[in-house]
Amino acid sequence: MALRPPEVRVWWNEPIARGELAWIAIAFLWGLFMFGMMIYWHLEGKQNLSTEVYRIDPDLYAQRAEEVTEKYKIGEEGDTGVPIVAPPPGGDVYMIARLWEWWPVIQLEKGQSYRLHISSLDWQHGFSLQPVNINLQVHPGLEHIITITPLEAGVYTVVCNEYCGAGHHTMTGRIRVVEPGQGG
Ligand code: CUA
Repeated sequence: MALRPPEVRVWWNEPIARGELAWIAIAFLWGLFMFGMMIYWHLEGKQNLSTEVYRIDPDLYAQRAEEVTEKYKIGEEGDTGVPIVAPPPGGDVYMIARLWEWWPVIQLEKGQSYRLHISSLDWQHGFSLQPVNINLQVHPGLEHIITITPLEAGVYTVVCNEYCGAGHHTMTGRIRVVEPGQGG
């Protein structure tokens, strides 16, 4: 019980039990191992992304995102009015996180590389791309740029995985990946 102060106030001079010492050593070595794995997964597993991050004013980010969206818009998602944006291969494309949506819908060609910009206009959100499970923290004022090359066609869902208020659970978006030449 921690309700009373410890009997021996200078606890750090007390000897450590062997069992406890063993667990501290195991935890330390595991930490070192996992640190090494972060680098390994970056190089081999394609799990840890290389992102560029820049400071940006949210209003400026919104302006750029809207310009690029307008430029490469190919239609709208169902009757939601959310634009579908198909940037040219190698091009830049913007995604906005805000209460409570990911905007716009993005359409990419399989096997092509793109520079995907992501930022928030209001609160902290979490970019979680499913089912491949790529995750990023998204803050207003910071712009992530990720170079991505989708390897499989399909519809990917972006969910917000950072609690952001009443509409958090509705904050989803889409990235479509189409076979080369099937973009419209
Ligand atoms: Cu945005 Cu949760």
